[in-house]
Amino acid sequence: MEVVTLRSSSEAETIQQGEQFASQLLHGDVVALEGDLGAGKTEFVKGICRFFAVGDLVTSPTFTIINQYDGAMPDGATLKIYHVDLYRIDSPAELAEVGFDDMVFAHNAIKLIEWPEKAAHLMPAKRWIVSIQSDETDDDARVITVSSPQIPDFA
Ligand SMILES: Nc1ncnc2c1ncn2[C@@H]1O[C@H](COP(=O)(O)OP(=O)(O)O)[C@@H](O)[C@H]1O
Ligand SMILES: [Mg+2]
Repeated sequence: MEVVTLRSSSEAETIQQGEQFASQLLHGDVVALEGDLGAGKTEFVKGICRFFAVGDLVTSPTFTIINQYDGAMPDGATLKIYHVDLYRIDSPAELAEVGFDDMVFAHNAIKLIEWPEKAAHLMPAKRWIVSIQSDETDDDARVITVSSPQIPDFA
């Protein structure tokens, strides 16, 4: 599996890294964003949304669970972005209630999912994994690892 490691020393740099990462994304892609509370997952999402020229304010969907934005691919084709924060989800029933199962398989949208471990049983095997770690010695430093989606290996 291809893994790229990035280092960020500020919120602005993380946003920039999100923006650069987004240039690889295609319709239907799922991005799992891992990391503790305050790691910078939502900041990274802001960068992805900037790449897709999202006009709406990108905020943490902690209370709404799923935010939906209208974006555009570089060639101008329109695109939906689902920004999901599963932090407050505690059961499969709650996931079903917010329509997670249909949303995660939508072909016409890019899906950005914070706290994917809350929906481990529903996450597609083929997904990007962005993992953000803080650095105990520097409040503004982050290590961001990006794994590209793989075709599941049935061997
Ligand atoms: N290098 C960095 N990258 C991202 N966020 C940072 C960085 N340094 C400090 N921060 C701060 O950390 C917080 C990250 O918040 P947020 O993105 O909402 O986290 P999460 O979505 O992972 O819970 C913000 O307050 C941001 O200003
Ligand atoms: Mg967040």
